[in-house]
Amino acid sequence: MYAAVTLFVFMCLTATTHAEHHQPCHAPNMTGHMSVMSLKGEMRAFGAFTYDSMGKKLRFKSNESSSINTSLGLDLLMFFEEGIFYEIDSKNQSCEKKSLQSTLEPLDIPDDAKFLASIHAGSSSIEGEGLKVNVWTGSMADMKGHYSMSVTMGCLPVSTFYFTESTSLLFSNTDVELEIKDPDLLLVPSFCLGLPVEETPEGTVHSFINEFM
Ligand SMILES: *[C@@H]1O[C@H](CO)[C@@H](O)[C@H](O)[C@H]1NC(C)=O
Ligand SMILES: *[C@@H]1O[C@H](CO)[C@@H](O)[C@H](O)[C@H]1NC(C)=O
Ligand SMILES: *[C@@H]1O[C@H](CO)[C@@H](O)[C@H](O)[C@H]1NC(C)=O
Ligand SMILES: *[C@@H]1O[C@H](CO)[C@@H](O)[C@H](O)[C@H]1NC(C)=O
Repeated sequence: MYAAVTLFVFMCLTATTHAEHHQPCHAPNMTGHMSVMSLKGEMRAFGAFTYDSMGKKLRFKSNESSSINTSLGLDLLMFFEEGIFYEIDSKNQSCEKKSLQSTLEPLDIPDDAKFLASIHAGSSSIEGEGLKVNVWTGSMADMKGHYSMSVTMGCLPVSTFYFTESTSLLFSNTDVELEIKDPDLLLVPSFCLGLPVEETPEGTVHSFINEFM
């Protein structure tokens, strides 16, 4: 009897830890650098990002003074909750306001993602020479594709692959800090205020990821 109870309790405990382990975590507030590379080897963009995890807001701004040669210069302010975003042209003080058809966030694990594995990159025994990540995968119905996202144990996204019919992209994050250094970057610039939402052409899907395709 005792053994049976012990076994039952043990099984419950195991199931619980398992369930917790397989629950997608949510990224914290962050500032860092993001690079986007196409899997054909072209560097699409490199720049700074600011992310508000509660407000689900993201700013990505290409770094034009960086030595990295990129094919895109972008300045995007995303409001995932509201389902809108701005394409900003600071030099020209102009802006386009668009609606998001896919609210897939590049820095947060979708709630329906599936846990694939825990991986120890580099060395697991030499201090400072390894990085343990959890890999999550899922599909993107709107874009007919799938993704594979690696996050640290503290839920910082390290790299994400997006595979779609037309393109495959690798998003990588570096120099991440756990704070919003400049909250103003998450405010709509004055020259963008009061704009109407532009119509989305038939067949177009607007998402953060699509901006880099
Ligand atoms: C994240 O940043 C937002 C906006 O600055 C702030 O309201 C929120 O409290 C921050 N969250 C944490 C956990 O620091
Ligand atoms: C842009 O890149 C330059 C050179 O790599 C670097 O010094 C600067 O800090 C970067 N700026 C931002 C906003 O990341
Ligand atoms: C950057 O790309 C342009 C156009 O592809 C090329 O002409 C230029 O040489 C590249 N610069 C560097 C530093 O790679
Ligand atoms: C400024 O905006 C106008 C209209 O949107 C555009 O035609 C022009 O190319 C832009 N100029 C620059 C330097 O981006």
